[in-house]
Amino acid sequence: MAGPLFRAPILWAAELPFVRRLAQEGGLARRVALRFVAGERLDDALHAAGALNARGIGAMLDHLGENIESPEQASAAADAYVLALKRIQEVGLSDANISIKLTQLGLDVSPDTCLENASRVLEAAGSTLVMIDMEASAYTERTLNFYRDLRKDYSNVGVCIQAYLYRSADDARVLAREGATVRVCKGAYLEPPSVAFPKRSDVDRNFARLAASLLSAGCILHLATHDPRLIDGARRFVEVRGIPMQQFEFHMLYGIRRDLQEKLSAEGYNVRTYIPYGDQWYPYLTRRLAERPANVWFFLANLLRRKG
Ligand code: FDA
Repeated sequence: MAGPLFRAPILWAAELPFVRRLAQEGGLARRVALRFVAGERLDDALHAAGALNARGIGAMLDHLGENIESPEQASAAADAYVLALKRIQEVGLSDANISIKLTQLGLDVSPDTCLENASRVLEAAGSTLVMIDMEASAYTERTLNFYRDLRKDYSNVGVCIQAYLYRSADDARVLAREGATVRVCKGAYLEPPSVAFPKRSDVDRNFARLAASLLSAGCILHLATHDPRLIDGARRFVEVRGIPMQQFEFHMLYGIRRDLQEKLSAEGYNVRTYIPYGDQWYPYLTRRLAERPANVWFFLANLLRRKG
């Protein structure tokens, strides 16, 4: 995870209209996005999921989109998930579930809209797991409250917490008591030091602490990271504590550290790849670029090559 000093200007610049236009002109950003996104169509995601399943790796589909502003768009996003769930069954994928964002289902429109759409997706999911992504810190409290409301009626729902937030230690304690299915990630948004650890080493330490406490409490845990040190630490922890393999999965993003995904899977660990798809890939792409200086150089080198 690049620090806020690197990420802030990248995320800020990416939002400037002329940068967005320049980046998308000629489809360059789209081509770069295809490194991290399975494609714009559901079939692209199903195809990617099928290929992963064939190699013993699970899939988690993410229909891209966030901060939706109208009830119609929110309802359309829920429709897209219902369709994805139906198609997962139809094509007979052996191991695929989904991940949703509440702002995509109408959290900014109204609580009722969001609850109605999320409930519709969960109803359609049946016993398939639906994970709730965690977005920027302005949504953390509402996301956890929504998760709890949904959990009253649906057992197939889980939620993500972010290791960079100070509050996550308390959230993890409550989620542990509730026996939740939890994803722990480092956190991908730009947050001020008033709510999030500015130093990478503190985020990493907190990730390890959160994972250890949730595993010790018996929660089903998704370790969402590509960080080899955290992965090795988790492996040692589960071995020493005798934590069963069914209690945790290693989760990574489509297009990142495929070698590590395959290695862990070959060693018998449960591994799942988060597969984004859809045409709303720009915010997702900018977060992936901002995470790693090398990605920005790769992007700029392509841009200059085109201009030269
Ligand atoms: P870190 O950034 O330290 O990277 C470790 C190594 O991974 C790097 O050295 C590099 O090799 C590789 N790597 C990481 N990012 C890369 C990139 N963009 N390009 C190329 N290589 C890269 N965040 C959030 O706020 N809410 C959420 O709901 C989720 N959900 C989620 C699900 C899953 C399955 C994953 C894997 C991640 C998320 N995230 C997320 C994103 C997460 O918070 C974080 O931003 C990224 O995973 C990068 O952090 P790492 O833990 O990989 O460590």
